[in-house]
Amino acid sequence: MNIVVGITGGIAAYKAVNVIRGLVLAGHDVHVVATEAALRFVGRPTLEAISRNTVNTDLYEAVAEVRHVAIGQAADLIVIAPATANTIAKLAAGLADDLLGNTVLASRAPIVIAPAMHTEMWQNPATVANVRTLESRGVHLIGPVSGQLTGKDSGAGRMAEPDDIVRGALAVAAASGSAVPNDLAGRSVLVTAGGTREPLDPVRYIGNRSSGRQGIAIARAAQARGARVTLIAAHVEVELPTGIDVVRVETTAELLDAATEAAPSHDLVIMAAAVADYRPVSVSDDKIKKAQTGDHLTLELVQNPDILATLSHADHAGRLVVGFAAETATDRDDLIRLGREKIARKGCDFLVVNGVGWTTGFARDDNTVTVLDASGAIVFEASGSKSSVADDILGVFATALSGAE
Ligand code: CTP
Repeated sequence: MNIVVGITGGIAAYKAVNVIRGLVLAGHDVHVVATEAALRFVGRPTLEAISRNTVNTDLYEAVAEVRHVAIGQAADLIVIAPATANTIAKLAAGLADDLLGNTVLASRAPIVIAPAMHTEMWQNPATVANVRTLESRGVHLIGPVSGQLTGKDSGAGRMAEPDDIVRGALAVAAASGSAVPNDLAGRSVLVTAGGTREPLDPVRYIGNRSSGRQGIAIARAAQARGARVTLIAAHVEVELPTGIDVVRVETTAELLDAATEAAPSHDLVIMAAAVADYRPVSVSDDKIKKAQTGDHLTLELVQNPDILATLSHADHAGRLVVGFAAETATDRDDLIRLGREKIARKGCDFLVVNGVGWTTGFARDDNTVTVLDASGAIVFEASGSKSSVADDILGVFATALSGAE
């Protein structure tokens, strides 16, 4: 699930770190929207390290991406912890004077708030009325509980414990139908991600621009849908998920070895890695020196084995193999035609075709894909953040897996 965690300015903001952590460990893609006041209580680097995503605060940042509505539109669940008396009042009034207010107004996702404030503020008739307004609109409250407050006093108004917030928020999502289905429970999914690199000498390599974002988003989404996940990661530029088996590789040969070893014990194999098609015929043990090569350097390359074709042709009843096709064609018909030729050549069960170019596909957070089946028919199209694309296409493969039984 794509979960927005809103953090507002109260001492309990430090406990929000454990809310984020709990949601990430449960396999969710967490995007933090913090108010300026929240960042006085907890540091941006901490929130970014734990959520593994950029923290959003400023309404006027990345305006071209229409972020003030995009974050809320993409959310499957919004959790605001801590929710101060001020934030509760603003939410009740429908104010949109900061990024969190805009995000909430632009979202149709269920909203969970974990209030935190002093007893007097919690019991103040203004707060009581605001909470009632929010509840009447379907906002879910977790806590507050009674206990030690920030000063010497104790009483009602303490934020609920992070584990209880995580559990409660996920239960709200499940009950509202916005939680991801558990349709890969009991399944095993092997995902390859990132770009392989072929060394020329100890300091240089031939590589590609893959960041691994899409493949890692698939691994996370598969985990959230209940699968046991193995990720074979070549060179990636994003943090690796926790709670799954990770195998690191560098070259296409290493990826081939790791994938052929792992594939037989997995139900679904997704080859999202950008595999180097060629490798140097010879790798120099020493750094190649200009003094020896002169003005021109000619490299002799030899073709690498096709891992996807190898895995697709390995006979394994019930297992599905999915390939990706990165194509630079800009015309949709050309893209599909190239995809059809590729799936016929590779022999996989599905091919996810995506357009790439100087400014599309790579190192971005969004993607547009078309899924072809083995006959070349278009079975699905998806567009959006790489995590929502990952989730959408996994739905197709989960259905196909149950059909293949
Ligand atoms: N692939 C692979 N082994 C290779 C090359 C590619 O397993 N040696 C896989 C990729 O992981 C991807 C799919 O094949 O799932 C298509 O990769 P792509 O780079 O689009 O196609 P290529 O087979 O390399 O063909 P071309 O570069 O000619 O388009």
